[in-house]
Amino acid sequence: MKAVKITEGIFCLPVNLESYQLFEGMWPMPNGISLNSYIVKGEKTALIDLIEDVEGKPADFLAELQSISTQIADIDYLVLNHMEPDHTSWLPAFHAQNPGLAIYTTAKSANLLKSFYDIEQNVHVVKDGDSLDLGGGKVLRFFETPNIHWPETMMTFEESSGTLFSCDAFGSYGTLNGIYFDDQLSTEQHDFFHNEALRYYANIVSSFSTFVTRGIKHLAGLDIKAIAPSHGIIWRENPGAIIKSYERLASYMVGPAEPEVTVIWSSMYGNTERLVNSIVQGVRSEGIPVHVHRVPDEHVGAILASAWKSTGLVLGMPTYEYEMFPPMAWTLDMFRRKKILNKKVLRFGSKGWSGGAQKELTAITEKLKWEFLEPIEWFGAPTEKELQLALESGKALARQVKEACAG
Ligand code: FEO
Repeated sequence: MKAVKITEGIFCLPVNLESYQLFEGMWPMPNGISLNSYIVKGEKTALIDLIEDVEGKPADFLAELQSISTQIADIDYLVLNHMEPDHTSWLPAFHAQNPGLAIYTTAKSANLLKSFYDIEQNVHVVKDGDSLDLGGGKVLRFFETPNIHWPETMMTFEESSGTLFSCDAFGSYGTLNGIYFDDQLSTEQHDFFHNEALRYYANIVSSFSTFVTRGIKHLAGLDIKAIAPSHGIIWRENPGAIIKSYERLASYMVGPAEPEVTVIWSSMYGNTERLVNSIVQGVRSEGIPVHVHRVPDEHVGAILASAWKSTGLVLGMPTYEYEMFPPMAWTLDMFRRKKILNKKVLRFGSKGWSGGAQKELTAITEKLKWEFLEPIEWFGAPTEKELQLALESGKALARQVKEACAG
């Protein structure tokens, strides 16, 4: 691959992680992900963010660097917006080839540089608003944006071009293969990256939504002409589109989200499963779209994306040994961690021999600000009465979702 020119003196160097890998060691990436580094050339040369040390990827990066007639030794400054190893784990090998390089990063990152990689020489701590003049008209200005994605993060703004190097913010899953800019996307590809941005947001960023909103406000005074994230497409035709999209995604934490319902269900012997269709029918009869996921068949990474953007949730699970069915318990624990807040919720399921799932659900969702409809529970197998109730409760949930989104 060759480096991709964004504008005079600014280049993107993307490498792709493959679909068989797990992001952060746990998130499936059916469409892979790109790790985008950037070169900014003035009289001095700066590299912004690095790559993960995955087999073959440093070679890809070096080929891209060479495609713009640059060697590692030519780089004067390394700007680290974020210390997560998807952007830094190749740093020790890279640094060993240019140990005189000056590193610019936040105070928190400087501490992490020492603890992760034992690097402390020639590290320059920057504060919000500090700048680095590369000469030749290129000036980098740094903005602290904590918790997008982790506490040490910042963004870098090149002033002459209006390019914002936003690291994880405004990023998405999906590899880059010949198409790098928003203005090159077909409608179908645009939808693809929109969905990949949603799933990435729900998996990686969602619990920091308050910080996303705060960070966007902090950057509001900048004349941003291009957004160059460290994952996914570069937004140069309409950078406002991805900013608006992230604003909207962040707003789902306080709700309402989209006028949609996500059904997540699991069943041991089919008695809980028997209500799924009735509830789905009930919701659909009110004109509300439904997304249905079965656990443990589907990974929580995909379910999170669907739940994050839905105003309504339906949770189907039986009682298992006096508590929630374990696959659902694990899913809901992830919902708690990722701050799936402020939802309208209907729960149904067989009490089996004893009941108990509802009690545990109430306890573990206490802080999620969920508004529950009356649960549907029964001992053993459901009867016609529960099937009818499922239909009506699905309708009632859909009406609550419509009402919340209308107003
Ligand atoms: Fe792309 Fe939080 O690392």
